Amino acid sequence: MAKPSIYLTTPIYYVNDKPHIGHAYTSLATDVLARFKRLDGHEVFFLTGTDEHGQKVEKAAKDAGEDPQAFTDRVSQAFRDLTATMGFSNDDFIRTTEPRHKAACTALWKVLAERGEIYLGDYEGWYAVRDEAFYGPDELTERDGVKYAPSGAPVEWVREPSYFFRLSKWLPELLRRYDLPEGHPERIDIQPESRRNEVRAFVAQGLKEFGEGSEKLDLSVSRTSFTWGVKVPGDEKHVMYVWVDALTNYITAAGYPDSSAERWRFWPADVHFVGKDIVRFHTIYWPAMLLAAGLPTAKRVFANGWWTNDGQKMSKSLGNVIDPVALVEEYG
Ligand code: ME8
Ligand code: MG
Repeated sequence: MAKPSIYLTTPIYYVNDKPHIGHAYTSLATDVLARFKRLDGHEVFFLTGTDEHGQKVEKAAKDAGEDPQAFTDRVSQAFRDLTATMGFSNDDFIRTTEPRHKAACTALWKVLAERGEIYLGDYEGWYAVRDEAFYGPDELTERDGVKYAPSGAPVEWVREPSYFFRLSKWLPELLRRYDLPEGHPERIDIQPESRRNEVRAFVAQGLKEFGEGSEKLDLSVSRTSFTWGVKVPGDEKHVMYVWVDALTNYITAAGYPDSSAERWRFWPADVHFVGKDIVRFHTIYWPAMLLAAGLPTAKRVFANGWWTNDGQKMSKSLGNVIDPVALVEEYG
């Protein structure tokens, strides 16, 4: 009997700056598993790519004095070149500015809207552009009059009309799926164990604090204060929240919304490889969006820790990075 096909993904990386060894590391881990599974007789689809919309990338383009499309073309190419330099065996390289991806995001949004999973409201709260993430007031610390997220990113107060996704509705189902026994087709496996515990506790705490179905637990999924993103169908003043756009890449590459696409048989993904910084997005928002759209959830999310420099997370935003290309040139 043929062995099951395997779908493996890396995060799609922001093109705010060129890649460092952190990006090379997550992609390398994914490449190792892809190669092993192929040797073991599985058909593998291995996806990587770049995340090109949102305020963070728009700001990086502006700071570089470039048009966002020209800027993202240039920086995305540096990530693509790294796959060749590192000898990664990825089967596709997705860019969120591609027409196939905008089409998939638009289709998914329409399905969610038709199912009553999205509603219009007003967002008011804290936002960190560096993380492209919303934070609750109790998560923040203050230094010299500036408030910071736990990641160390400064936050700003945002108030604007926004569409919301009924995340609250899906949280109990997520908890159920985290706890299903190994091998159960609906299980969402989060590894390592420490990350699983963190996610479970976070979801359970939210439910306890606000109560099941509370709008306070819903997710703001559109922005009106900038334009570099996928337009919301039917309301083009709004662009989709960059994480809704970004997470959708995993089904875009499998052919969504065309369920007769050759690649659709790979969905659901077997493992989303990520860093620990983006576990919440992959284990809460993403499976909730899939459930709301009536699609199967990915089987496993595996999170690696951080490469640090002088004790600080190596990051494009901070610039404390080590260049993988220079290392390859010197050591092969
Ligand atoms: O978060 N150590 O993109 P990103 C180890 N676009 N791994 C690291 C690392 C470090 N110091 N720094 C980065 C985004 N990584 C979103 C993802 S997915 C739908 C969208 C790796 O450019 C690690 O895998 O900030 C981390 O999660 C990822 O790069 C974040 O890359
Ligand atoms: Mg990052």
